[in-house]
This record gives sequence, structure tokens and C-alpha cells, in this order.
Amino acid sequence: MEVLDLIFRRRSIRKFTDETVSDAQIDLLLQAAMAAPSAMNLKPWHFVVVTDAEILRQINRALIFGKMKAPCAVSVCGDLRIGRRAETFWIQDCSAATENLLIAAAGLGLGAVWCGVTPIGRYQKRIAEILLLPKGVIPLNVIFVGHPAEEKPPRTQYDPKKISRNTFGNPWNPD
Ligand SMILES: Cc1cc2nc3c(=O)[nH]c(=O)nc-3n(C[C@H](O)[C@H](O)[C@H](O)COP(=O)(O)O)c2cc1C
Repeated sequence: MEVLDLIFRRRSIRKFTDETVSDAQIDLLLQAAMAAPSAMNLKPWHFVVVTDAEILRQINRALIFGKMKAPCAVSVCGDLRIGRRAETFWIQDCSAATENLLIAAAGLGLGAVWCGVTPIGRYQKRIAEILLLPKGVIPLNVIFVGHPAEEKPPRTQYDPKKISRNTFGNPWNPD
């Protein structure tokens, strides 16, 4: 059940203390991210870890819904330079990596929040400029990471109305 507890404990944390996150902890998050499933196992991801205060400020300025003051941010990017096949599923692959990273952060007692970049063109452009991304490397998101300064209760948002059995609209009604 431990894994379910962890999944329910993962919440979007938007307030952080000033305490830095160690490189060792960030590295663990990235190990979790890169354990994600990936179509054709292409792993079309690249992670830009930002700890520089000025670059963090620029990211805050760029994202209307990304003003969180965190000591660290990770931008999960799709690296389409690895070949045309990567174009098909890079968003799914990078999203799977992102979710792993978020769950790992919860497991380490850190807080994190996913801030969307793709598919908003002006965010993609600005984040690419700030992070000096080469052509073909596209930011999916920015994940702010830090030590939490707010608490949120674990929860699922389970809703049986969102489940069908066998064919659409047939109630799930579990045993
Ligand atoms: C694709 C995506 C984009 C998101 N973008 C933002 C964002 O820009 N700013 C933000 O504060 N939260 C963002 N979130 C977090 C959601 O608001 C959050 O997951 C949702 O409210 C559910 O809350 P929970 O994460 O605590 O379960 C995003 C989540 C996803 C999956």
C-alpha cells in the first residue's frame, strides 16, 4: 500500500521555505523521472535543472501561473533532435517522467508543482530563450521544487462517474 499512500500524498505545493534542495536530492528526482515508460523506449527527454536565482526570477516573470518562489526548478523538455520518431509521443513520455518526478519529490518530503508550458507558444518561446534551449528541444513544463511551506491533505479524486465497465456509460459498480 505504500505506493498508493505516496500517490495520494503528492499534491501541488506552491509555497516553499528558503532552504535549498541538495544536488543529491535533485539527482534522485531525476533518477525517478528517467525510470518512466517511454514509447519505443526512445526516452526523448532532457531535464534542465535551475538553481540560479536570476534564471528562476526570469522563469517567474515568463509564466503567468508560475510565480512560485522556489530554490529550484526543473524544466522537462522534449529532445526532438534524436530523430523524427520522437515527435509522435514525446509529450506522453515527458509527462510520464514528470509524474514520476512529482511522486518521488513527495516521497522525499519535498514539495513540487507542475507549471504548464507546452502547448502555449509564447511560454515555449520565452522558456526556450531563458534556458538557452537549442532548436528541437521543447520545454513541456517547469516544475518548481523546494521544501514545503504549506501542507495539503493526501487525497484521491476518485469519481465512479468517470468509469465505465466494458462499454462507455455502463456503470463500473465494483464488487
Ligand atoms: C499540464 C498541467 C499544467 C499545470 N499548470 C499549472 C500552472 O501553470 N500553475 C499551477 O499553479 N499549477 C499548475 N498545474 C497543477 C494543477 O493545478 C494541479 O495539479 C491541480 O489543481 C490538482 O491539484 P493537486 O496537484 O494538488 O492534486 C498544472 C498541472 C498540469 C497537469
